[in-house]
Amino acid sequence: MMRPYLDTFSLSGKIALITGAGRGLGLAIAKAMAGSGAHVILNGRDPGRLGDTAGSITAAGQEASTAPFDVADPVAVRTAFDEIARTHGHLDILIHNVGARNRKPLLEFSDEEIRDLVETNLVAGFTLAREAARLMLPRQSGRLIAITSIAGHVARSGDAVYTGAKHGLTGMVRALAAEYGPFGITSNAIAPGGFATEANEAMLADPKIAEHFSARTALGRWGRPEEIAGAAVFLASPAASYITGHVLTIDGGLTIKM
Ligand SMILES: NC(=O)c1ccc[n+]([C@@H]2O[C@H](COP(=O)([O-])OP(=O)(O)OC[C@H]3O[C@@H](n4cnc5c(N)ncnc54)[C@H](OP(=O)(O)O)[C@@H]3O)[C@@H](O)[C@H]2O)c1
Repeated sequence: MMRPYLDTFSLSGKIALITGAGRGLGLAIAKAMAGSGAHVILNGRDPGRLGDTAGSITAAGQEASTAPFDVADPVAVRTAFDEIARTHGHLDILIHNVGARNRKPLLEFSDEEIRDLVETNLVAGFTLAREAARLMLPRQSGRLIAITSIAGHVARSGDAVYTGAKHGLTGMVRALAAEYGPFGITSNAIAPGGFATEANEAMLADPKIAEHFSARTALGRWGRPEEIAGAAVFLASPAASYITGHVLTIDGGLTIKM
């Protein structure tokens, strides 16, 4: 049976950079994008891990390469984008997925710890989006997608720096939608709730905390990393051409439950 409408969800021929693609949500998104036809450029700080992941994607007959760099180092970011420009000539999709965690009361943060968390979770978002836009503007086409968090629009105690940075990232996504909309570039966010990734290992290992989160979600469980990937493919695809400035919450109903 012919299903031509499915083509509007295809990423065939697209070049996509995914930051933090070595594990967790970034890895799930990278695999889904490669499986949807994109050439995925995998970023992280561990070249060995990225190489293994790229190897498993190419072994499956899909396209992947690696770009190891620290997203919080603007010089390394520029160098990586220069390399992408040399190799591919342009970029279609940026998934800014890296996010660092440091949960504790504000009074326990040193100046350096505050700066580090904001550099990685917020400042890097601007640096990456700016360099991506440079490669998208000449073609008047592109997709900027940031993985924010439900902490980008709600808050809980003991997590002020991460929450503030993610709120800032949500603002950036909306502002860039306004700035780049006239040039054919959309800017959207995906706001995850609780997903079972390495970053949440400690919480998942504590039955009381793990169960508390499950009970608070409408679906009664944590998310699996692959459950974020369809939304990223959709927002990057031609099917989402008129969606911009949007924050798509994927939290199993955590933030809508009374
Ligand atoms: N998991 C959740 O429940 C949840 C909920 C809400 C929001 N989020 C957001 O979703 C995103 C992904 O979360 P996750 O749970 O998948 O995280 P994760 O398991 O900690 O994975 C983060 C990835 O980013 C890479 N990374 C970390 N710092 C980096 C840096 N400075 N430069 C380049 N790469 C870096 C890590 O690899 P290396 O260490 O090898 O570099 C790793 O592959 C984050 O933005 C997070 O805030 C997650």
